[in-house]
Amino acid sequence: MQTLVTDSAEKAADILKSGRVVAFPTETVYGLGASIYHADAIRQLFRAKGRPGDNPLIVHIYSIQQLNEVASEINDAANKLINRFFPGPLTLVVKKNLGVPTSVTAGLDTVGVRCPANPVAREFLRHCGCPVAAPSANLSGLPSATSWETVFEDLNGKIDGLLRGEASSIGLESTIVDCSGKLPVLLRAGSITFEELQTVVPEITAYGVRDKESPPKSPGLKYPHYAPKATIRLWRAWEKSVVEPLSAYIGLSSPPGDVLLLNICKSLDDYGRELFSFFRLCDAKGIKVIYCELPSNRGLGRAIRDRILRAAGENSECEETSQSV
Ligand code: TXA
Ligand code: MG
Repeated sequence: MQTLVTDSAEKAADILKSGRVVAFPTETVYGLGASIYHADAIRQLFRAKGRPGDNPLIVHIYSIQQLNEVASEINDAANKLINRFFPGPLTLVVKKNLGVPTSVTAGLDTVGVRCPANPVAREFLRHCGCPVAAPSANLSGLPSATSWETVFEDLNGKIDGLLRGEASSIGLESTIVDCSGKLPVLLRAGSITFEELQTVVPEITAYGVRDKESPPKSPGLKYPHYAPKATIRLWRAWEKSVVEPLSAYIGLSSPPGDVLLLNICKSLDDYGRELFSFFRLCDAKGIKVIYCELPSNRGLGRAIRDRILRAAGENSECEETSQSV
């Protein structure tokens, strides 16, 4: 299959409307889109990513009016969050409309809905004219793609189109809040922080704090995520450690020692934006160990922490923070 790389949102939307799969930029990470109404395209999307069929897709809409097409019930908490954060880097899990095929939601009676703010994403979705199912546009298990070049690396020859845009300005996947129950629950931390959510819906809890005994709320939780080929080592500024050869470091403070690749981030925003692209760069350079400084659990730190811990294959601490999916 030939992957057409285009700068035209209209051309990319035409490919999608003809029942095929197209990657597109968003402010969080690149998405791999298919019309929710084209069963073949949805199947191809799962195949191209190598994604297990029991992991549901987020549905992307252009306008709040389109919500009725995918959701059957928007409760009070969901309404408040929509008013405050749509369009933006927030996904809400709500009761799904019958019109949304179960292949999109992996058999669940809920659906994740997101209305991105990125202007190129918005133009694309406007031309599509239908709800667009889109997971992150990377091979399953690898760090999400935050640039069109990375999408191309992972998926060239496996998808029909790639809408070229700028690198994602946030670089971490959207915050996910489950609004399908009585109280809103944070399922995945993101750039809209838990503290910000609390100002709008004070009753919100983080999944895992109260529900330790219950099964994962999000099917994606049971799969490994964000993992580069290199081994991730958690590093805390006060710890002394012997730096291994062929290693790299990313964090806010100075590195543990001499490393081959160094990324001292100026702010948490930079840390979030650069984390996945740094993982990818390390793999390309043959780095064997990446030391990552764990930020505190406050604000954006919570999301960065969560991705690092998951990339390191450590889920235990996330239970106290949030569930990444
Ligand atoms: O920023 C993002 O959210 C990006 C861009 C492209 O929008 N998308 C993204 O999709 O990260 P994905 O598939 O890589 O991660 C979405 C996660 C999945 O792992 C899935 O388990 C969870 O959202 N999810 C989707 N629908 C759900 C539902 N109805 N209930 C619970 N979790 C759901
Ligand atoms: Mg993903």
